[in-house]
Parts: sequence; C-alpha cells; structure tokens
Amino acid sequence: MRTSFLPAFAAVTPVLAGFDTWSPPGPYDVRAPCPMLNTLANHGFLPHDGQDITREETENALFDALNINKTLGSFLFDFALTTNPEANATTFSLNDLGNHNILEHDASLSRSDAYYGNVLTFNQSVFDETYSYWTDETVTLQMAANARIARIKTSMATNPTYAMSDLANAFTLGESAAYVVVFGDKTTATVPRAWVKWLFQHEQLPQHLGWKRPALSFEEGDLNRFMELLQNLTAPVNETDPGCTSRTQRRRIPRSHFGF
Ligand code: HEM
Ligand code: MG
Repeated sequence: MRTSFLPAFAAVTPVLAGFDTWSPPGPYDVRAPCPMLNTLANHGFLPHDGQDITREETENALFDALNINKTLGSFLFDFALTTNPEANATTFSLNDLGNHNILEHDASLSRSDAYYGNVLTFNQSVFDETYSYWTDETVTLQMAANARIARIKTSMATNPTYAMSDLANAFTLGESAAYVVVFGDKTTATVPRAWVKWLFQHEQLPQHLGWKRPALSFEEGDLNRFMELLQNLTAPVNETDPGCTSRTQRRRIPRSHFGF
C-alpha cells in the first residue's frame, strides 16, 4: 500500500485506513476491467496509480479489504502476472489485465467487447443489460447466473469476433460468483442490489449503504464451490443452446476443472 495517498493517521492504523480513503484515478493512474481491483486502488489498498503491483500488495489488499485469504490472493496474483507482456515479470499493472483474450474476455457484465471498443472502462448500456436481471433488492446467485448467460448470448449474437476460452469461461463464473459471495454474503449467497450497483458504477466500497469488510474468510474452496453452483444454476444447459460456448458449459463442472 502506498501511504502517500493515505491520510496522516494511516501510518498508525494502516489496515483500516483504506476504508476511509477514496479518490478517483488521476490522469497518470491506470485501471483494470475489474471493478473490484479498481475499487481497491481508489481506496489505496492497492497502489493508487495501479502500476507495478507486487504479490505482497495483492495479498494484503485482498485480505485487508475483503478478508480473502492470502493463499487465494497469491493464486489470483499468479493469473494477473500472465497478463504482463514483459518476460519474467514479478509485478502487474491494472491495465495489463485488459490485454484481450488472456484473462479479459468478451461478454463482460459492465464493459464492451474488445470488438466494439474500450474493455477497461465502465459501459452504461452493457451494465443496463446485466442490471435488468437483478430483479429484486437482494441479488441471488440465480440472478447472477441469469445475467451472465444473457450477456454471453448477446455477445454471441452481436460480436462477429466473439471468443470464450475455457479459462475465460471459468473467469466469467468466478467473477459472477465473486460479486455475490465475496463482496456480499457467502453464508446466504446473496448481496444487496444497491451495493453491487454502487460498486460497478462508482468503484467505491459502499460503506454508506451498510457494506462492511466480510467477517468470514473467503478461501479457495469457497470460490470453487460457488463457481460450480453458479454453473449448475445456468439453464438450459444443452448442446444447442447458443450460450453453451465451451465444453465446460455443456456439463456439470467437476471441481478439478479449476485446478484448486
Ligand atoms: C472482472 C481480474 C479480483 C470481481 C475481472 C477481469 C479481470 C479480473 C481480468 C476482466 C474480465 C472481463 O470482464 O473481461 C482479477 C484479478 C483479481 C480480481 C487478477 C485478483 C488479483 C476480484 C475480486 C472481485 C472481483 C476480489 C470481487 C468482487 C470482478 C467482477 C468482474 C471482474 C464482478 C466482472 C466485471 C465485468 O464483467 O464487467 N477481474 N480480479 N475481482 N472482477 Fe476481478
Ligand atoms: Mg471483458
């Protein structure tokens, strides 16, 4: 965490300082296609400039802000490193994550497909489609599954370069699970719709709406379980469904698919 962006008391209480600190990216700061990593940079849990982020900074940010355990944080950092085009990189920058078809994929919930333009910044009309599937004040995993498959179908129908690797598909499941059970509540598998809307639109933790750092640790087993659950809530799952883009979508997913 770079203390220069934090108020003076941050030196005394570094773990809590980011919750009370927020500023949007400046002209030289870079950001990601990931609303949560952008949020953590805006709060100063990650370097505010979004650049040259280390494993330790990633693990600490995810733990301090979201109670994600450091084993999972380190695992996610390894994926992030693959997006840095430099050989033998030991850091990544948030805009590296936008390099198309590594981790960044088509059919995002709040970003355009690369075919249409900028994959890094929030796109209101894409998000409007996602939001239309969050049909109650409390968003469930079923609503997240509905939104995800709807975005995939729209992209398939409109983007002539549509692509979705098995890894990207697994990421779509992880991302849709994450906004419900990492950012929301892993016990009930729900999240208040107002919180998620605020996160996506403002890239800020919605503490004024009642959000708090989750009390329970979030671990690899949780992610695995909720990705599997989300896939299994995605219907219809058959060979002719246009949303079935990869082998992983044509069958119920065994845990081993995700490698942890
Ligand atoms: C999207 C990476 C942590 C939630 C993304 C994308 C990448 C990414 C590359 C873009 C995929 C795309 O839509 O094309 C990472 C990495 C992380 C991380 C490397 C950790 C080091 C998190 C966490 C959350 C989260 C902790 C918790 C809520 C999301 C969501 C999206 C997303 C909801 C979908 C955005 C959209 O589809 O518009 N992430 N992420 N991410 N991420 Fe993260
Ligand atoms: Mg994308």
